[in-house]
Amino acid sequence: MSRVDPPAVVNIADLRRLAKKRLPRVVFDYIDGGADAEWTMRENARVFDDVLLRPRSAVATDNVDLRTTVLGQTIDLPFLLAPVGSSRLFYPRGEEVAARAAGEAGTIYTLSTLAGCPVGDVKAATRGPVWYQLYLVGGRDVAMGGIERAKKAGCTALVVTVDTPVAGNRERDVRNGTKELVSGGPFAMFAHTFQFLARPRWLAAFLRDGGLMKFPNVMLKEGPMPYADVGAALEQSTVSWEDFQWIREAWQGPIVVKGVHTADDARQAIDHGAAAMVVSNHGGRQLDGVAPTLRVLPEVLAAVDGRAEVLLDSGIRRGSDVVKALCLGAKAVLIGRAFAYGLGAAGGDGVVRAIEILRSGVVRTMKLLGAASVGELDRTFVQVPEGWVRETVLHDRSGPTTLNEIDGLRAHGARPLTQATVDIARSREE
Ligand code: FNR
Repeated sequence: MSRVDPPAVVNIADLRRLAKKRLPRVVFDYIDGGADAEWTMRENARVFDDVLLRPRSAVATDNVDLRTTVLGQTIDLPFLLAPVGSSRLFYPRGEEVAARAAGEAGTIYTLSTLAGCPVGDVKAATRGPVWYQLYLVGGRDVAMGGIERAKKAGCTALVVTVDTPVAGNRERDVRNGTKELVSGGPFAMFAHTFQFLARPRWLAAFLRDGGLMKFPNVMLKEGPMPYADVGAALEQSTVSWEDFQWIREAWQGPIVVKGVHTADDARQAIDHGAAAMVVSNHGGRQLDGVAPTLRVLPEVLAAVDGRAEVLLDSGIRRGSDVVKALCLGAKAVLIGRAFAYGLGAAGGDGVVRAIEILRSGVVRTMKLLGAASVGELDRTFVQVPEGWVRETVLHDRSGPTTLNEIDGLRAHGARPLTQATVDIARSREE
């Protein structure tokens, strides 16, 4: 029996608890923490409670079909693994280990630019598809190198993260001495080293894996970018919409924009060639105070109006969360911490367990709802607070400007729209 089997691990919160036990505080908090007061981070998970389920009882659903198609690729689960930087600090060769578990489960692994394992090795470690997440750290030429290697490795989509012009203010990282640990002199470092001695199992594995990782997917002239330089490098590498032209030319494949919060940005993403987008606030790790993602999903869907695929992440901890997001119109969701806790708790076994917890949760929820396939899930299975739809319309500065877009909203089940909503759109059209 593995450490992550029941009854020790029944849900994702149990994996979190085990990760906290195995990892040094600085590493656990890097996974677990969010920006500033962590309000958005908490809201991301809590907001799922606002959406209520409406089951159809006495419906036999013996075989629940979880398959979905994302960017033309059929996957066995309606969720995929989000890019999580520095996973190699959680477990030896962490990115390869997580990618393998995703592949075994029949889903996609997304590799962060800021990973500890090279993209070629990660692709070779899994029989599943791999997406490559792009940060422009090191500048355009360095990013082009990353794109080329991702292409050569056989990655099937490029995920461009647009919500990270600077790293968020993660107060836990400051308290734990992250900066001193990776770049300080011996004295500055010394005050923070005891947390490692308290985790000998992790420490032994960390040293066996070569100690502090570098960023092999950020190849500078002098070699892979050292860990210490990451904060400054992020600040010097803001992506802007203009960059999408050269990114598109270099990549020549499907692009996913990650970090969309509003209808305006959803339209920008489409105008700049996105085939898909992820409604994401980076798990509450960037701008604290932005709305939880589930809440802005209807606004984004209405603006996109079927012109691109819309995925969602941030706050997914249960199978029922996945189902609610799908019912609201997401094509699939991404999980970040849910699998990162598993990786930190027990490596590959932990990631397999995290995926299994969510998979079985989705199956059970769908059976209880009376839905036999992911394709059947829609707004009729959920009850959404009425205010959400009204806000959707009012907060979208430039839309829905047209009655067409109102129809788009309706198509996504945002019914009944208040007469006021329609009146606003009509008056804007006149
Ligand atoms: C992230 N995330 C992230 N996103 C990205 O585009 N590039 C990256 O390198 C990282 N790194 C990263 C590290 C860690 C430890 C976490 C927890 C998250 C954000 C990630 O892709 C995803 O958007 C969130 O994790 C989703 O929220 P949940 O599922 O963690 O609540």
